[in-house]
Amino acid sequence: MVNPVQPQCCEILQVHQESTHEWTFRVATDVHPAHGQFMQLSIPKVGEVPISVSAQGDGWLEFTIRSVGKVTDRIFTKRAGDALFLRGPYGKGWPLESFQGKHVVVITGGTGLAPVRSMLRFFQEHPGYVQDVYLISGFKDEGGILFRGELDGWQGCFNTIYALDAAQKEGWRTGFVTDFVKEVPFSTFGGEYAVAVVGPPSMMRFTGLELLKCGAEPDKIWMSFERKMSCAIGKCGHCRINEVYVCLDGPVFPYPIASALVD
Ligand SMILES: Cc1cc2nc3c(=O)[nH]c(=O)nc-3n(C[C@H](O)[C@H](O)[C@H](O)COP(=O)(O)OP(=O)(O)OC[C@H]3O[C@@H](n4cnc5c(N)ncnc54)[C@H](O)[C@@H]3O)c2cc1C
Ligand code: FES
Repeated sequence: MVNPVQPQCCEILQVHQESTHEWTFRVATDVHPAHGQFMQLSIPKVGEVPISVSAQGDGWLEFTIRSVGKVTDRIFTKRAGDALFLRGPYGKGWPLESFQGKHVVVITGGTGLAPVRSMLRFFQEHPGYVQDVYLISGFKDEGGILFRGELDGWQGCFNTIYALDAAQKEGWRTGFVTDFVKEVPFSTFGGEYAVAVVGPPSMMRFTGLELLKCGAEPDKIWMSFERKMSCAIGKCGHCRINEVYVCLDGPVFPYPIASALVD
């Protein structure tokens, strides 16, 4: 019998520094997660962390990780050829079938671009799957910008607004992502749209309120949550908020549920 929580030892194929604090690790595995799902990454005798899949391909997955503490700091000591332990995929990702044929608005703050990157790459590789994509991505400053090459590529196929919180950058806007939500032409979408939001809790809270102000309907807005986890399979209760288990029911939630979960 296969143990569902037994981590698999996987080889790191590549390590790429994305920004000052975030690195992308490409790991060899045949797992095929849905866009927006997460995996549990671990180092024996150190610990385990939930990390979203930021891209996937034939025989590999990528994880874009911010170094913030005990386990992520140790993952940053790993290099190509080293081992990383993986289990998963877990959780419910983006409801891609319900996005099909629609106008899709994606709004991200900082590392929040990582959990939608795999979906954005899918839209880029499958033109016509959705009507069009409006991508608003904000970063604190120049040093925090992720996936620079892909951001450039997406300008050619999506409607993009890229912004830095306070700094100036040629071709970029200055301000918070909430400042630009009103530029999305919701009234022209004929009700056929979906919105995906990921970022720090305050960014998601204010973006949700701004979306409602701009006429977006709550049940067409989806948000992805980061919450402390342990088992990731609905057994330990670490991720539980009231009746909701983020590891099983999320991390992606429709706004009517998400708005009650934002801290
Ligand atoms: C579904 C999901 C997907 C995630 N995807 C990514 C991702 O793609 N990239 C990424 O860099 N991080 C992601 N995270 C957050 C990541 O799991 C935490 O940063 C990590 O668990 C921190 O562990 P640590 O041992 O390095 O830090 P610790 O030493 O445990 O903590 C350092 C700091 O981070 C806080 N923290 C710890 N765990 C979490 C958590 N799960 N969520 C938020 N804050 C936490 C602590 O309160 C503390 O302030 C995700 C979390 C979840 C639940
Ligand atoms: S992490 Fe254990 S129940 Fe969700």
